[in-house]
Amino acid sequence: MSATEDLIAAADAHSAHTYHPLPVVIATADGAWMTDVEGRRYLDFLAGYSALNFGHGNRRLVDAARAQLERVTLTSRAFHHDRFGAFCERLAALCGMETVLPMNTGAEAVETAVKTARKWGYKVKGVPAEMAKIVVAGNNFHGRTTTVISFSTDPEARADFGPYTPGFQIVPYGDMTAMRSAVTENTVAVLLEPIQGEAGVLVPPAGYLAAVRELTRERNVLFVADEVQSGLGRTGRTFACEHEGVVPDVYVLGKALGGGIVPVSAVVSSREVLGVFRPGEHGSTFGGNPLACAVALEVIAMLESGEHQARAAELGEHLHRRLGELAGTGRVTAVRGRGLWAGVDVDPAHGTGREISERLLDRGVLVKDTHGSTLRIAPPLVIGEQDLDWGLDQLRAVLGA
Ligand SMILES: Cc1ncc(COP(=O)(O)O)c(C=O)c1O
Repeated sequence: MSATEDLIAAADAHSAHTYHPLPVVIATADGAWMTDVEGRRYLDFLAGYSALNFGHGNRRLVDAARAQLERVTLTSRAFHHDRFGAFCERLAALCGMETVLPMNTGAEAVETAVKTARKWGYKVKGVPAEMAKIVVAGNNFHGRTTTVISFSTDPEARADFGPYTPGFQIVPYGDMTAMRSAVTENTVAVLLEPIQGEAGVLVPPAGYLAAVRELTRERNVLFVADEVQSGLGRTGRTFACEHEGVVPDVYVLGKALGGGIVPVSAVVSSREVLGVFRPGEHGSTFGGNPLACAVALEVIAMLESGEHQARAAELGEHLHRRLGELAGTGRVTAVRGRGLWAGVDVDPAHGTGREISERLLDRGVLVKDTHGSTLRIAPPLVIGEQDLDWGLDQLRAVLGA
C-alpha cells in the first residue's frame, strides 16, 4: 500500500465516518497550495469552507499566534485577559455594532444567536413565555447541533436525530410572501444566510434581504444574518449583507475569524440585544480565549484595510467571467455566487459533483461538491490570478470543454 492508502486506512479504522473525504492526505500547506504526504501539490479551491480566506500559513496570522503562544493561551472567562477588550471593541467596530459575545465554532454561535433572540423576545419584546418563534429558510445550513438540525430541511442532517427542538418555522428561501405570512407577534427573529453556502452558493433574488430588513424592522423582529461562511471578505465586501445595503440586527460570524488557525466565532449586535444576558446564562470555556483573540485581532486588522475584500471582488469578477464562458459550452448548467465564491452546477451527463472533484484531484485541484452535481469554488482570497486561471483550466479540462 502507498503511504496515502496506509494513512487513509488508519483514519478509517479509528474514526467515526461522518465525512467522505477525497482520497488525499495533506502534510503541509502554504498560501493557496497544499502538499500531500507523497509530495504532490494541490491548488486549494475550498479554503476550509472559507475558514482559510487569508490562505494557509498566513505570515501575519502565524506570527500573531506564535507571539501569543509565548504569552498566555487560556484564562477561561473566570478572569480578564489583556486581549479581550480590544478584540470585542475592534470586532464590534468592524460590524458597525456595539457588543460581542465570543464562542468557538459556527454552530455554537448560531445556538448563541437563538438563545439571544429568545431572551430578547421575552424580556424586551414581551413575547409570552415559551412562545418565541424564529423564522428560518428552507435549504439552510447553520451547523450540526441538535437544535440547529431541528430546523434543517436536509434529511441527511436530521433523520434519526430527533426529538427536535421546537420554535422554528421554515419558509422557502427568497420568498417574501411566505416570509410575510410566517412572521407573527411571537416571532423574535428571522435567521438567514445572506447567501446560502452549503445549499450551493444560492444568492437570493435582488431586493430580498432589503425586504426582510424592512419587514423585521416594521414587526419588531430581529434580523439575524448568519455570515459564518459568507462574511469576512469572501463576497468582495466585509459582509454579504452589504451587497443590498442591509445592516442586520445581529451578525453570526465564524470560520475566517480564526484565520484558519483556531476556531473563533462570535455573535455581534447592539447593547440592547446582547445586554439581555446575565452572568451564568451563557458561556464557553474556550470562547474569547487569549490565543483566539490575538489571531482574530490580526484578522480584523487585515479586514480593516479593505485589501482582501477588494481582491475578492476583483478576482471574483474574473472567476465569474471565466465560469460564464464555461456555462456557454453547455457543460455547466448554472453558475451562481458573489466575489471569490461560486456554486457551479455541472450537467449531470458529465458526472456527479463527487466524480468531478475526484477528476480534479487527479489534476491537482482540491474542490468539493455540495449536493448532486454542484461544485463549490471558494479559493483563499490570497490566490494568485495565474493560479486561479490554472485551476479553472483544469476544471475546463475535466469537463471536456
Ligand atoms: C452559514 C453557516 N453557519 C454555520 C456553520 C457551522 O459552522 P461550524 O462548522 O464551525 O460549526 C456553517 C458551516 O459550514 C455555515 O456555513
